[in-house]
Amino acid sequence: MAVQVLATADGRAKTALSRAHAAAWFAARAAGAPLPIGVATPPAQPARPAKPDLLDPRDVPRRRPGSPTGRIALLHAVAHIELNAVDLHWDIIARFADQPMPAGFYDDWVKAADEESKHFNLICDVLESLGSHYGAMPAHAGMWRAAFDTAEDLHGRLAVVPMVLEARGLDVTPGMIDIFRAAGVTEAVDALTVIYGEEVAHVAYGSKWFNWLCGRDGLDPKETFHRLVRRYFHGSLKPPFNTEKRAEAGLPPDFYWPLADGAATPVA
Ligand SMILES: [Fe+2]
Ligand SMILES: [Fe+2]
Repeated sequence: MAVQVLATADGRAKTALSRAHAAAWFAARAAGAPLPIGVATPPAQPARPAKPDLLDPRDVPRRRPGSPTGRIALLHAVAHIELNAVDLHWDIIARFADQPMPAGFYDDWVKAADEESKHFNLICDVLESLGSHYGAMPAHAGMWRAAFDTAEDLHGRLAVVPMVLEARGLDVTPGMIDIFRAAGVTEAVDALTVIYGEEVAHVAYGSKWFNWLCGRDGLDPKETFHRLVRRYFHGSLKPPFNTEKRAEAGLPPDFYWPLADGAATPVA
C-alpha cells in the first residue's frame, strides 16, 4: 500500500490513495484484524507529476509575500512540502519494514501520511480558489535528499525528517498565518491553522520513536541526535525556535540549540 502511494505521480491521485489506504489500515485495526506489515521495496524516488518543474533551490524565483503573487508562491511552496511529506511518511513505513517495530509505529506514520494528504488538498483548494494550482510555478528539487541520505538509517531518518524538518514547520507556520490574516485571505488562514495544529503530533511521533530506538539500543538520545543531524542534515538549524510547540512535541532545547546558527548560543 505504501509503495502504491509512492508510485502514484499525480498529487490529487496520490493523496486520495493515501487517504483510502489509511482508512483501510485503521478500519482493520478497529475490527481486531490488523493488516500484516509485509515487506516491499519502495522506489528510490517517489513518482511526481510532470508539473511543477523542479529547480535547484538557488534558481527558484524569490517572491515577496507582500504581493498576491508572492502569497500564491508561498502557498505553492507549502503544497510542495505537504506532497513530499505524504511520500516521506509512506516511505518510512516501507523502507524499514525489515526491522521489527511495534504496531504503534505504523499507526503513527499512517496517521501522519493521512494528515499530510489532507494538508496538500487543503492548500490546493486555496490555490485553486485564488486562480492558481499546484504545478503552476516551479518548486524546489532536492526535497527528497533527506530521505535518500537516510535510506539505510532509521535513527537518522527520524532525527532529520520529523525532528528537524517538520519541527522547522512549527517555527515558521505562525508567521505565515499572520501574513495571510493581514492580507485577509481567510481560506489560507484556516488551512494553515489546521496544518499547524496537526504538525505538532508528527514531530512528537518522531521524538517518541527516536527515543524508543535509542532506549532499545542503549544509546544516549541527545548525543545520538546531535551526531546524526550533523551527519545527515546539511546546514545549521535556524532560530528563532518555537520553544513551546517543540517542547509539546517532546523536543527539548538542549537537542536543537547546540545545532543552531552560531552554536555558541547558550543552551536554555
Ligand atoms: Fe503537513
Ligand atoms: Fe507533518
